[in-house]
Amino acid sequence: MSNPIRLVIFGRQGAGKGTQCVRLVERFGLAHISTGDMLRAAVAAETELGLRAKAVMDAGNLVGDEIMNGIVRERLAEDDANTAGFVLDGFPRTSAQAEALVQILGDRTLHGAVNLDVPIAEVTERMMARGREDDTPEAIARRLELYESETRPVLDWFDARDLLVTVDGLGTEAEITERLFAAVDARL
Ligand code: AP5
Ligand code: MG
Repeated sequence: MSNPIRLVIFGRQGAGKGTQCVRLVERFGLAHISTGDMLRAAVAAETELGLRAKAVMDAGNLVGDEIMNGIVRERLAEDDANTAGFVLDGFPRTSAQAEALVQILGDRTLHGAVNLDVPIAEVTERMMARGREDDTPEAIARRLELYESETRPVLDWFDARDLLVTVDGLGTEAEITERLFAAVDARL
């Protein structure tokens, strides 16, 4: 059996991470681990976590690091993440989460962190067109502000560890997929 591929997909809110993960999963057979999707599932199921997370998400704020680290730790312990490999989407997005990820992974090193680079004006337009519950102008502004203050340092953190690959996230979905596949192939 081939070795599992371990990736992080990175990028601003609305950059197309979820969209492109569908294609990465198809091509490489990875488990798609999206913390936003997991939180939305918890909200829909009205679990204790979901009830607490909903207001935070609607306001565009970040759910606490300890909660997020716990969720990801549990998810990465599941069989598929170990056998098929994974793409993490939406995590880590604070320096504390990046440090926790290192602990969680232990000797399972990452192959790379791919940054889907899309300018603020374009992601704003994409999110407004999508209209998810947290895609209000106020929550979008707050999320993008938190990207700059909390998440950008994680980008530099990956770069300093020679894990970062930046891909132009403007163009058609198919064009971006091609760039993404080439970037991942180059890391394997
Ligand atoms: P999360 O679900 O991660 O939301 P986000 O960060 O706002 O990112 P998105 O999912 O909006 O963007 P995306 O890059 O996946 O873009 P998409 O493919 O949808 O997190 C939600 C909330 O959960 C956070 O605000 C926070 O509260 C909490 N949370 C989650 N993780 C957390 C963590 N680790 N720590 C703390 N809190 C956490 O694409 C966007 C739109 O563009 C779509 O409509 C799509 O169809 C369209 N599109 C895609 N590609 C293209 C293209 N090439 N051209 C034109 N349109 C395109
Ligand atoms: Mg997403």
